[in-house]
Amino acid sequence: MNARFEPSAGLTGTVEVPADKSLSHRAALLGAMSSEPVRIENYLQAADTRSTLKAVRALGALVEERGSELVIRGTGLREARETDEPIDVGNAGTLLRLLPGWLAAQAGRSFTLDGDASIRRRPVDRIAKPLRMMGAELEASEGRFAPLTVHGTRLHAISYELDVASAQVKSCILLAGLAADGSTSVLEPAHSRDHTERMLLRAGVSVERSGLAVSVVNADELQLESIRIPADPSSAAFLIAAGVLVPGSRLLLRDVGVNWTRSGFLRILRRMEGIVLGDLEEASEQISPAEPVSDLDIAHGALEGTVVEAEEVPLAIDELPLVALLGCFAEGETIVKGAEELRLKESDRIAGVVEGLRGLGADIEATPDGFAVRGTGGLRGGRIDSLGDHRLAMVGAVAGLASDEGVEVLGMEAAAVSYPGFERDIRSLSGG
Ligand code: S3P
Repeated sequence: MNARFEPSAGLTGTVEVPADKSLSHRAALLGAMSSEPVRIENYLQAADTRSTLKAVRALGALVEERGSELVIRGTGLREARETDEPIDVGNAGTLLRLLPGWLAAQAGRSFTLDGDASIRRRPVDRIAKPLRMMGAELEASEGRFAPLTVHGTRLHAISYELDVASAQVKSCILLAGLAADGSTSVLEPAHSRDHTERMLLRAGVSVERSGLAVSVVNADELQLESIRIPADPSSAAFLIAAGVLVPGSRLLLRDVGVNWTRSGFLRILRRMEGIVLGDLEEASEQISPAEPVSDLDIAHGALEGTVVEAEEVPLAIDELPLVALLGCFAEGETIVKGAEELRLKESDRIAGVVEGLRGLGADIEATPDGFAVRGTGGLRGGRIDSLGDHRLAMVGAVAGLASDEGVEVLGMEAAAVSYPGFERDIRSLSGG
């Protein structure tokens, strides 16, 4: 489905941004791993997180749904049921990488995970390697892609050093560590989102962070009881970018998650002189069981270019395509470094964003590990291909609202994996 986004008058109003995708996946998985019922308020109803519900049902969890409120009656840590058919993760990379951590501990049972064409290009060797070290057997297509088969076993604890900061891989190892003997630890080259650690702490698990290392001690059961999911800062980022770029805009976004390991984009935007008022959580050595929220107040204003260094990349990983778009409108140059991981997302997001924005008139170049944009104060417009990637589709829509001539987005339906009402929200805020 193609959609056209014309140059817009200022976006104004108050928005309830959809629930956090990362947290929804984790809440459903931890619910399924619990022995007692877990109530989840404000679960994200989008394609990716529906794949997670389908998966946990297939594994034996009961899920009662009342709109966005769920009650999950799980199987416990070690009693997932073998499935008759492969588990279909759809387009959800987080499900593909986290779920095997739990499945690896199901002694004597085997499970296969598969998904769409994009999922079959996402590497799984990064989780297969540590899970094998813990004792599980895994088979993957060409050694590194889905379909992925996991043969569960009794796991033993490991200390593992990641070569890239990845919350998905870290989470997979920590989930496996819950059922391993002893204490499992993961060392990352930089901090990545810590939602799994926080939710495990809330569920009564012993989780500790020391610098860039995090460890869990095995558990008999999880005690999560209930959890409320805040609005997704990554989905909010598209509305924030539209508000900052379109003259005359003033937006209020309610109860957005401001966990410091997710607010890299807002810090980058503030450095670019973007007007975003709200209380961001401060970085801390301690892990908190809470997921803090804040209202965010956004206004249009002029932007300055900035440099994003490797250390900041994992804290803004899903918003970096938007940093490229903001850079087109900023004074001076905007450079993103150390972001080669972008090539392994739902699409190659370095190539997709660089070619996509160049087609709209941007002065942007790809580098092996990121991109460099020279701000020209605006963007002409034209056509952009989402490449089936939700974040590129939404970048194209925001570019259209802020452009001189409008933008046609090819494959706008991709947005449904994380933000099904995006087009409706953005059109209603821009008065259409
Ligand atoms: C996610 C972690 C990130 C992110 C993805 C969601 C998560 O991936 O890009 O959209 O929920 O843990 P990596 O951990 O592979 O960088």
